[in-house]
Amino acid sequence: MHLFRVRLILALIASVTLVSTASTYFDVLAHRHVLREDLERRTKWMGISIQPDVQGVLRTGDPSALPGLMQLLKSGTGALGLAVYDTHGKLMASSGPPDVMRALARGVVEKSLQRGIQVGAFGHEGEWQWLEEAFPIHDGNQLEGAMAIVADASYIRREANALWQRSFWRIVALVILIVAITLGMVRWFLLRPMSRVAERLRGLRTGRVDEHKEGTISKLGLFSPLEREVETMAESLKAARAAAEAEARLREAGEHFWTAERLAVHIRNRTGSSRIFVVSNREPYMHLRQGKEIVCVVPPSGLVTAIEPVLRACDGVWVASGNGDADGATVDEFDRLRVPPDDPRYTLRRVWLSEEEEARYYDGFANEGLWPLCHIAHTRPVFRAADWECYQRVNQRFADALLKEMEGDAEPVVFVQDYHLALLPQMVKRERPDARVAIFWHIPWPNPEAFGICPWQAELLDGLLGADLIGFHIPLHCNNFLATVDRVVESRTSREHMSVLRNGHLSAVRPYPVSVAFDAVAHLAATLSRPEMELERAAERHKLLSEFGVRAECLAVGVDRLDYTKGIVERLDAIEQLLETHPWHHERLTMVQIAAPSRTRIPSYVELRRRVDATVERINTRFQTARWKPIVLIERQCNHDEVRRWYRAADICLVTSLHDGMNLVAKEYVAARDDEDGVLVLSKFTGAAVELRDALLVNPYDIVGVAEAIHLGLEMSLIERRERMQRMRRQVMEHNIYLWAARVLGDLRELRLEPEERTEASHAAPGRVRRVEIPVGKLA
Ligand code: F6P
Repeated sequence: MHLFRVRLILALIASVTLVSTASTYFDVLAHRHVLREDLERRTKWMGISIQPDVQGVLRTGDPSALPGLMQLLKSGTGALGLAVYDTHGKLMASSGPPDVMRALARGVVEKSLQRGIQVGAFGHEGEWQWLEEAFPIHDGNQLEGAMAIVADASYIRREANALWQRSFWRIVALVILIVAITLGMVRWFLLRPMSRVAERLRGLRTGRVDEHKEGTISKLGLFSPLEREVETMAESLKAARAAAEAEARLREAGEHFWTAERLAVHIRNRTGSSRIFVVSNREPYMHLRQGKEIVCVVPPSGLVTAIEPVLRACDGVWVASGNGDADGATVDEFDRLRVPPDDPRYTLRRVWLSEEEEARYYDGFANEGLWPLCHIAHTRPVFRAADWECYQRVNQRFADALLKEMEGDAEPVVFVQDYHLALLPQMVKRERPDARVAIFWHIPWPNPEAFGICPWQAELLDGLLGADLIGFHIPLHCNNFLATVDRVVESRTSREHMSVLRNGHLSAVRPYPVSVAFDAVAHLAATLSRPEMELERAAERHKLLSEFGVRAECLAVGVDRLDYTKGIVERLDAIEQLLETHPWHHERLTMVQIAAPSRTRIPSYVELRRRVDATVERINTRFQTARWKPIVLIERQCNHDEVRRWYRAADICLVTSLHDGMNLVAKEYVAARDDEDGVLVLSKFTGAAVELRDALLVNPYDIVGVAEAIHLGLEMSLIERRERMQRMRRQVMEHNIYLWAARVLGDLRELRLEPEERTEASHAAPGRVRRVEIPVGKLA
């Protein structure tokens, strides 16, 4: 730093001196020019005024008038000398200092005589400096001779020197001032913020991260563009350090939970690279325009909640439909971008669908057809031939995009998501037999009778059976699938091995209960005492509810997409029932329902929203008082942090789906409760009910039963709440999303590519046979 200062000072001195000297030099030049011009003008006037007298001298040849003229010139204008010449340039008479008069350049007078014009030139000799101005003398047209006035010009040099002297001190003052100001500015605007950046980085390195980073960052001044980077780095380092600590603690405690890091290492060890290719309809990050700004939001989707942490851990490419209105503006020329935007870990490749494709493939076939087909929610599926045709086309578009992304990757691992892309496995496998393809069906698989109403069930099954591995949440869905395959297509299905052999290709069918990224660190690090936690929760509940003008001692929360499978209306009815049968909860309990609008172009969803609004209105009108209402409806998408605040403030969480593949809200609620408190009321028709046996399991159609379960939950003793929550947390922690991904991807990796052969199980046409040898539940 010292050397930097010395160098900076020297460079400043040199450059300021150079610039100032050059500027002074040009000032002096300009000043001299002005003085010379002035002298020339004055000398010219002198010449004109004495011309008649000089003419007399020339005519008479008598030089006696010269000294008098000279005296006149000297006193009036400070001239040095005067000389008179005949027409040949011969000196006739002169007056002035002999040194000067001798040194006069002959050429000046000669040129004036020859051209008949006034000619001037500056000259010098010893101390003398002068301007010699020669004038031709005419009588009419007749040239009579010439005269030269020698004007003293030495004051011009003196003035120039004086100017240099004055400038010297000015330059010195300037150098001192500029060096001082620059050093001050460097210190203020560069060194201080720089040392703050250094301080912050040091803090990060040593683990002493400044908790009040906002203050620190605002002081970064010139380096504030680094703010985001520094912040992100801080977050990553903090997360990495926390993960390492967690790993160490888990090891110390003899635990074997799965973490993001463990998953990445696990996949890398098996494949040499942890890179995977995921395809889904829903994208993990959506860009939207808000005024002039573009904001990035995470869509409300269980699929995204589950898959995003896996991609973060593994890296790779996620192919999905880009349907944010600013999605096109945020990709490169290959329709790709790295995400998460703040901390890029993997590539998102967007596929663009037209409005018609959205309407037919997504709204139509996927959500008016397959969605109600697979959920027993008593909404009739609608199948249209045009929607099916479009569904096939869009599946091919996703397949093409994926195949392009996979170019150059040998034996790529492909993980297809959900019912929107049932045909993709077969399409991909046809083009890339070396790819290892798994598909996970995030919704229930109904029994063969129910599935049988789909006119294109055989084509859908063939699409799915292109996969090497087909995953469902629970064994019941696997069995329903195997039964459907058995009934619909010619194949050999094995319940024992949970596999299907069709057209020489073997697909394994396995249950993998999807989960969430449980924060094992927070779990191990909970430090507050129970009364402190109670107080904190009460304060948070008060704060959250007062934003809606409500006061309540107890808080129930529901978080769902506005979907008819979620049993939202039934849940509201249960709250009404509770208030009827247990008036004790009046002005005591408020239920907050977060309902993210979903599939809003589909009539059944529009109708559901109308019903939910009307039900809330009815119940609130019936029971509300000045400072309390039983239901607060938040009909918008809330971000992860907002939802987490509601989870943590709630006494009870209500998940009353009429039918649900898994339902990750239940697991998210449990994962958020690191205070080990809170009650979960859970529909027995969700996949989560298979694992979370300590929830209060309900039949969502039984309104009285749900109301009683809520009452029971609100009255439950702290000890019981705690024991139940502890067991549920252990379940979610042990079976988190990393274990889920490790199992699916690990199983997929263990598929052995066998040379062409005929197996006893195969009764299909000769062809390439893949034998799958996956020990069931190997990683569980
Ligand atoms: O349950 C199936 C599923 O894809 C979930 O993963 C997700 O929560 C939900 O549907 C989202 O649906 P969409 O993508 O239509 O908003």
